[in-house]
Amino acid sequence: MSNFILSIDTSCDDTSAAVTSGTAVLSNIVASQVELHKEFGGVFPTVAKQAHRERIKPVVELALKRAKLTTDQLAAIAVTQGPGLAPALEVGVEFAKQLAGQLQLPLLPINHIEGHVLSVLAKPSTKLGSQQPNSFPALSVIVSGGHTEFVLVKEPGKYQRIGWTVDDAAGEALDKFGRMVDLGYPAGPVVEEFAKRGDAKAFAFPLPMTTTDNFLMSFSGLKTAVRRKVEELESGSTLSQQHIFDLCASFQYAVFHAITYKLNKYLQKRNNDLTQPKLFGVWLGGGVAANTTLRAMLRETIRPYQLSLAVPYSKKLCSDNAAMIGVAAGFVLTEFKEHSHPETLQIERLPNWQIGSTTS
Ligand code: KG4
Ligand code: ZN
Repeated sequence: MSNFILSIDTSCDDTSAAVTSGTAVLSNIVASQVELHKEFGGVFPTVAKQAHRERIKPVVELALKRAKLTTDQLAAIAVTQGPGLAPALEVGVEFAKQLAGQLQLPLLPINHIEGHVLSVLAKPSTKLGSQQPNSFPALSVIVSGGHTEFVLVKEPGKYQRIGWTVDDAAGEALDKFGRMVDLGYPAGPVVEEFAKRGDAKAFAFPLPMTTTDNFLMSFSGLKTAVRRKVEELESGSTLSQQHIFDLCASFQYAVFHAITYKLNKYLQKRNNDLTQPKLFGVWLGGGVAANTTLRAMLRETIRPYQLSLAVPYSKKLCSDNAAMIGVAAGFVLTEFKEHSHPETLQIERLPNWQIGSTTS
């Protein structure tokens, strides 16, 4: 029997389908809705739902075509059950349930954050069959538009949430700042480009959550601080292009420093605790993981601990995509093949499903 999994992710504003085999990616189709949401400056739920509905079938068909497979060669269907935008999740879940029922295939419900976490293990289809070295436990840092989390990976399937944001996600903070200075949506990639021409020390922003003895993060105070700075600069005259470059560099640094500060705190604590097994590495995932400054800052933070940073093999695997869902599903396929789980054909979306817990 084959190991080919057709996976689907409609958690936010990308309609995606992929075919994977273990951790090998045979196809990964992403239909982005960015153009549809631009005018709203963020994701508009009903527009997202409608677009997912229109696109899911052709996206699935293209994923199979690119993988040169037909449905009778599949071993299972995997779908993102949560977390995410409820109306968007619903489209993928309902489509997957119907398809799995029709093809009489197991349906594997997957956590979207688990997909981001395991995206670093994905490999191109040219490496089908090759073995990955055992590298657990690892600490995964997820930085996206919806999430900013530290997840301890004991092994695939066994996770512990270590830290998370108590308000905005890092990508969301970058996007909201971008709206203040008209950078378009999503602003993260523009902030990265503009920051290269600015001075990260031009403006000082506060380092949040320094008095709390935990690994929680916060970005909404930074957002207020940058809004005040923009207003202050605008009160004199209009913002110059150099002001915008400097704001991008300084604000981006502040957002990433808030993450590396808490990461360092965790690594320090773990290093001092001899009862904990040694960490094998730090993994990075999520849309903001494409940012080279974030990667460099993380590498600098973990170097003193003799740890290296693993990142997904392509930027496409950083932002939302179904291949990472297929990779996660690959680790539970055997269990689903050996023990039939017909109950998964009744699953409902779980918009607030936290990684490491079994319920919403
Ligand atoms: O993972 P993702 O595609 O969707 C969510 O699950 O949220 O992440 C999207 C986020 C957006 O906030 C976007 O601005 C940000 O990732 N982003 C970046 C970069 N590319 C995407 N932020 C900073 N630098 C980038 N190069
Ligand atoms: Zn995501």
